[in-house]
Amino acid sequence: MIMFSERKDFDPAQLVRLYAHAPWASGRTVQDAREMLANTDLVLTAWDGKRLMGFGRVLTDYVYRASIWDVIVDPDYQGQDIGTQIMQRILDHPDLKQVELFWLCTRDKQAFYEKLGFSANEQTGMVWARAKHAKLK
Ligand SMILES: CC(C)(COP(=O)(O)OP(=O)(O)OC[C@H]1O[C@@H](n2cnc3c(N)ncnc32)[C@H](O)[C@@H]1OP(=O)(O)O)[C@@H](O)C(=O)NCCC(=O)NCCS
Repeated sequence: MIMFSERKDFDPAQLVRLYAHAPWASGRTVQDAREMLANTDLVLTAWDGKRLMGFGRVLTDYVYRASIWDVIVDPDYQGQDIGTQIMQRILDHPDLKQVELFWLCTRDKQAFYEKLGFSANEQTGMVWARAKHAKLK
């Protein structure tokens, strides 16, 4: 049975194993993941026994804005509604019920998020990437 949790005190090595499946997160380290977890406002995990197989996290001010990051489901478990349940638990979370706007970035998973009610924002996001900036110097 799949269990969901909001606890952050799991072994970050499990998360790094999950990150390895996503090109945008595959180089992340256990040490950085540990620090990230400690500083993240809300963490949602999905477990098959002791195996972490789904993850999502939120950074928020609890009033105006919440951004959702790193939503990922182990390939062995994809297509079983787990990503949807992680997202639904975030969107329905009692601590976030005042939040006016949820925001996320996706390269190619628009169809997944549209099913949850997300729409493309008319505003154009801009980013400042440290790695790219360093190369320009
Ligand atoms: C995207 C992801 C989180 C979805 O999780 P999941 O548990 O497989 O998704 P679900 O089973 O809840 O699927 C929900 C719906 O979205 C659709 N969907 C899932 N993945 C999709 C994809 N890659 N492209 C298009 N639609 C997708 C499913 O077909 C399903 O539709 P249905 O209800 O009509 O059958 C998962 O595929 C994943 O981890 N991908 C790799 C990491 C990644 O790129 N994450 C997104 C970061 S922005």
